[in-house]
Amino acid sequence: MAANTYLTGIKPTGDFHLGNYVGAIKPALAAAEGYDTFYFIADYHALNIIKDADELRQSIRSGAATWLACGLDPERTVFYRQSSIPETFELTTILSTLTPKGLMNRAHAYKAARDRNTEAGIAELDSGINMGLYNYPVLMAADILIMEGERVPVGRDQSQHIEYTADIAGYFNHRYGDSYSFPVPKGVIDDSEASILPGTDGRKMSKSYDNHIPLFLPEKKLRKAINRIPTDSTPVEDPKDPDTSIPFQLLTHFADAEKVADVRQRLEAGGMGWGDLKKELFEAVNTELGPKRERYEELMASETELDEILDSGLERARSRARRVLGDVRAAIGID
Ligand code: ADP
Ligand code: TRP
Repeated sequence: MAANTYLTGIKPTGDFHLGNYVGAIKPALAAAEGYDTFYFIADYHALNIIKDADELRQSIRSGAATWLACGLDPERTVFYRQSSIPETFELTTILSTLTPKGLMNRAHAYKAARDRNTEAGIAELDSGINMGLYNYPVLMAADILIMEGERVPVGRDQSQHIEYTADIAGYFNHRYGDSYSFPVPKGVIDDSEASILPGTDGRKMSKSYDNHIPLFLPEKKLRKAINRIPTDSTPVEDPKDPDTSIPFQLLTHFADAEKVADVRQRLEAGGMGWGDLKKELFEAVNTELGPKRERYEELMASETELDEILDSGLERARSRARRVLGDVRAAIGID
């Protein structure tokens, strides 16, 4: 068994924003340093949300290009599409036969969908909920277990799914462990408040709050988006509290420590206006993201480069998946 396999799935739905970059992409790429890593585009998970073929195609390309542009090195990380690994879907069927239905009834995403029906006064609480949503945790467990994933970098919102995967691995190991055992995976989750990037209104940056700044906005639009972040009317010469300022909090994630300390000092002393702070923020974000934006655009413009990269990860991923599924089939008696 390979030691310390890091694995994560990237759900390609909608454009990525600065919060995804700070909270998901950067930490997952940093976690991968020095380990055996498998990162994939979770396209069948996205199918739960996107039912338009062209839109799905475009989202898959954009998700892959985003991670590559942000520094995922396909030579070192096995990078592939979930849909290219048929073994995952066979394992999903096998794991479903061991997973109690009650576990799925308690899944957060499913419960939230039922709660929305309750609030809307809809009597049939499962109305509008399909089996894709209901089975989502089993598919996610199969994604992880088919590669013998041991460490799974994810956001806090995914922690229940990792616990479910550990439970499902446990059911299998309990029944068939004499023949084959899955490693029981653990999440790599940053729980600190400091890792949450605020949006333009101060709440957590999120597509659903419409307070986000897209990751690869063209330079001019990025400058505008930063200038539009609301600030109070404290005059330029007055001292200001950096810790209650949204642009300053954003700056701490993009500028180096020296710059952050310098800006903090200037705000506290008075004489630095919000406009100056926003200029510093724009410079810091644009310096970090400018080259990545260029690479993203290059990848999106090429007809073939993305497919070539994704195809190159495929053999390495499938050979692991074939071996694991072979062991699982032998263990359960389907030879
Ligand atoms: P959204 O809330 O915009 O729909 P997603 O749920 O698609 O974002 O986020 C995908 C991942 O990106 C999450 O699991 C989380 O790790 C990370 N993430 C999203 N928003 C933020 C944020 N504001 N700060 C830090 N990390 C975030
Ligand atoms: N469910 C994850 C999300 O919504 C994406 C995902 C699918 C995933 N399969 C995975 C993450 C396996 C980690 C491991 O973001």
